[in-house]
Amino acid sequence: MAEDSFREEIAELVTAAVSGKLDKNKISALIETPQQEFGDYAFPCFALAKAFKKSPYQIASELADKIKPTESITKVEAKGPYVNFFADTGKIAAATIARIMDEKNNYGSGKNKNKKVVIEYPSPNTNKPLHLGHVRNMLLGQSLSRILSFSGCKVFQVNLNNDRGIHICKAMLAYKLFGRNKNPEKKPDHFVGDFYVLYGKKAAENPELEIRVQEMLQGWEKGDKETIRLWKKINSWALEGFKETYKTFGIEFDRVYNESGHYLEGKKIVLEAYKKGLLKKDDKGNILAELKKYGMPDKVLLRADGTSIYITQDINLAKLKYNDFRMDKSIYVVGSEQVLHFRQLFKILQLLKIYGGELYHLAHGMVYLPEGKMKSREGKVVDADNLVEEMISIADKEIKKRYKNLSRAEIKKRSMQIGIGSIRFFVLKYDPLKDFVFNPEESISFEGETGPYVQYAHARICSVLEKHGGKVSGNADFNLLKEKEERFLIRLLSQFPATAEAAANNYKPLLIARYLLDLSQAFNNFYHQYPILKADEETKKARLLLIAAVKQVLKNGLNLLAIEAPERM
Ligand code: ARG
Repeated sequence: MAEDSFREEIAELVTAAVSGKLDKNKISALIETPQQEFGDYAFPCFALAKAFKKSPYQIASELADKIKPTESITKVEAKGPYVNFFADTGKIAAATIARIMDEKNNYGSGKNKNKKVVIEYPSPNTNKPLHLGHVRNMLLGQSLSRILSFSGCKVFQVNLNNDRGIHICKAMLAYKLFGRNKNPEKKPDHFVGDFYVLYGKKAAENPELEIRVQEMLQGWEKGDKETIRLWKKINSWALEGFKETYKTFGIEFDRVYNESGHYLEGKKIVLEAYKKGLLKKDDKGNILAELKKYGMPDKVLLRADGTSIYITQDINLAKLKYNDFRMDKSIYVVGSEQVLHFRQLFKILQLLKIYGGELYHLAHGMVYLPEGKMKSREGKVVDADNLVEEMISIADKEIKKRYKNLSRAEIKKRSMQIGIGSIRFFVLKYDPLKDFVFNPEESISFEGETGPYVQYAHARICSVLEKHGGKVSGNADFNLLKEKEERFLIRLLSQFPATAEAAANNYKPLLIARYLLDLSQAFNNFYHQYPILKADEETKKARLLLIAAVKQVLKNGLNLLAIEAPERM
């Protein structure tokens, strides 16, 4: 019997007992899973007070008398305004653990959906290296991809390079003037970024550069040979550097779009829509979409001088994606400063009948660094590569402190797993819209709400199972798992599928992160109080299966956050 069927049964019992005063769906939605001492499920009676003209306390006590225990609901009890239900945990345990051991890596996955989803991230500009904001973006995009595909969707991960425009011309111009035709002597995207920064400094001293950079952009749009040659060089350096960073994070794309390749087509779409009367011209001659009646400002899509803007290429990109994937749902992972852009874009895509499926902007806030920490030598905020390097080096030191005799390869492997796992967990545990401060030391601590805390619970179970040596399988008497810590663990295990589904439906990796913290903590509470290998033979069997199931679910959850589950730490 799974968690859901207990809930279902309780909803039926309550529905019958209140004789139609509240419908079953509402009752089912009200059922809570409280702290285990108060039973496994609770029904709050507040919603019935009006209909019964009695206090919720009185109702709870009457319902508890009226509802008789069943084979799987072993006790019904009133506590304050709640009716508490105790389930036969032996049964839940047997069913849940059997299912986990049977479905293994698939436990918690959803079935029969087959929805096609395109998810776009991190879509950088090609004039500087990926920064901290991109790290958050990438981790969200990657985790959400895993969560959605685990839920049964067919997921396509795509990326957009905004590889043309004034920003890249700035890096190009600085390189042309001051680069002496050098080749990169460092990671090539960082090399490009240095020239972008240099442009800023030089232009502050010499405003004439701003005119030259505009000329360069016009030259680029006209296809001026020398400018295009320069652009290709700078652009490919940036992309080459990004590739390495994606590799560090284990990110691969099904398709990569380049703005330079499709922005012109965007202009055409806008012009055609204008001819069809779907768009208007303002008194300056700009073509715009009228959006005021949808509660947004009007949006210019093509300037009077014919130059395209950021949104112009997005209109064509949406079309290209649909031609490529025929997706039911299109997700954009982009910072929250672009909320209005995407509201406008989505409305325009609908008005111009370019894409009729579901559209979602997964917006995220900023990541800050603690004052004075992790700044690069020049004093500017660290980028993605520095951050990874720093975290791996902290992990490396920690591991060397704990273990003296590890091989170099093993140290490297573990510091990658722990260092990157720390970043991932710390970033993903927050609601995407919230800004937060990334604290390296805190993120890598083995205590607290961290990746290593969860990873360590997993490694600890591995080590118990290893000590046990023998196979953990077959049957056990799960009625022996009657301690409250055991009951709680079992209930958490049974809730994983619902948690994974909620994470997919709400685009919220944080639900998985929170769940993993709860599960790890519940495991630790159990582990510190009860013997496993030294328990009597029958209890030992049941407990070994219980922790093997916990291990499997920790691994499945970590995998949804793209965090490795090390066997040793
Ligand atoms: N390159 C843009 C930026 O850095 C983000 C692009 C987001 N994706 C999109 N389809 N507009 O701000």
